[in-house]
Amino acid sequence: MESLTVELGARSYPILIGDGLIRDIGRHVAPILKRPRTMIVTDSHVADHYLIPLGTSLGMEGISFSSFVLDPGEGTKSWAGLARLTEWLIGEGIERGDHVIALGGGVIGDLVGFACSIVKRGCNFIQVPTTLLAQVDSSVGGKTAINVPAGKNLVGAFHQPAMVVIDPTTLETLPRRELGAGYAEVVKYGLIDDAGFFAWCEANGAALLAGDSAARHKAIAHSVSAKARIVAADERETQDIRALLNLGHSFGHALEAETGYSDRLLHGEAVAAGMVLAHQFSAANGLCPSEDAARVRDHLASVDLPHSLASAGVNTDGAALAAHMAHDKKVRGGKLPLILTRGIGQSFVTDEYGLDAVAAFLDN
Ligand code: NAD
Ligand code: GLY
Repeated sequence: MESLTVELGARSYPILIGDGLIRDIGRHVAPILKRPRTMIVTDSHVADHYLIPLGTSLGMEGISFSSFVLDPGEGTKSWAGLARLTEWLIGEGIERGDHVIALGGGVIGDLVGFACSIVKRGCNFIQVPTTLLAQVDSSVGGKTAINVPAGKNLVGAFHQPAMVVIDPTTLETLPRRELGAGYAEVVKYGLIDDAGFFAWCEANGAALLAGDSAARHKAIAHSVSAKARIVAADERETQDIRALLNLGHSFGHALEAETGYSDRLLHGEAVAAGMVLAHQFSAANGLCPSEDAARVRDHLASVDLPHSLASAGVNTDGAALAAHMAHDKKVRGGKLPLILTRGIGQSFVTDEYGLDAVAAFLDN
């Protein structure tokens, strides 16, 4: 088992990574619980595979639990989902010192985290992420949210978990398409500031996606340690450090909005195409070598991820796509900060480029 820490002073917390950890979780969780009782929240896909092993492990440590199984999918991260969950937690007699276990992907992690930020004015939660996206990104860093009719993740809070427990073997049951979407976020860490890791992805990405457990473990540990470092440096995204995690997201957000935030394009798939567009836009503006943009496109194409507007299934004009970007929640004083790059591993934040320039680029 590997262990690292998100260094946030009094709110620091451990991330444990190890094959089979779900079956041994009770031993790791018991020391932090204030009483031998917890509540597990999950979705029905994940419950089918992991609720019993996790519950059995808690039971072996004398920890009693109740469980709440929600519908899978983005629709659960909603006002209705939040109301059901908070009322259930209160009905279960949750106390402020209690820890709720979020067992699932980013939907469950974001919803449970937000619920725990407000129930009893704040209780604790433990992330047990079961998708690659959640294992390398959403379970760490304390961004929690629900979607509202005006947009995704518009209502939420920063609320750090007390512990993150990652069992990479859970990826064995994850559909291949979801694995690919999570892999885009792995590649992102190389593109942000780690050219060596991008080269590792080029060499090992296909094996990882085919189920190679050593490659999977290395990718998760490397990604999560990059995320822990970034969050420790800029927890609330006020210094243009954490914002780098949004590489590819502004372009990707336009593609997701255009495809109706639906199964036509998963979030990670949109990020994949968005990262290629961010590199190509940088190259078109003389910031980044065009060979680097081509390398990014070729790698993502080689693992069957969207790498262009066409492969993302979008053929809308640039002005319409840029208009979606104007509604991005990152807009500051009317300007949208873009994450651009000087080359692989050299990304930076800038608001020098207007959406008209982005629209013209997308039309070419
Ligand atoms: P998800 O939680 O919807 O999971 C994807 C699908 O896989 C679901 O059907 C789920 O039931 C199923 N699943 C999960 N684990 C499984 C497993 N091990 N075996 C079989 N099926 C499994 O999607 P996601 O991609 O994990 O998360 C997406 C969400 O994460 C979005 O709402 C996004 O906004 C959010 N997000 C948050 C952050 C953050 O920092 N908080 C970062 C990125 C994304
Ligand atoms: N996933 C972006 C962030 O955590 O900041």
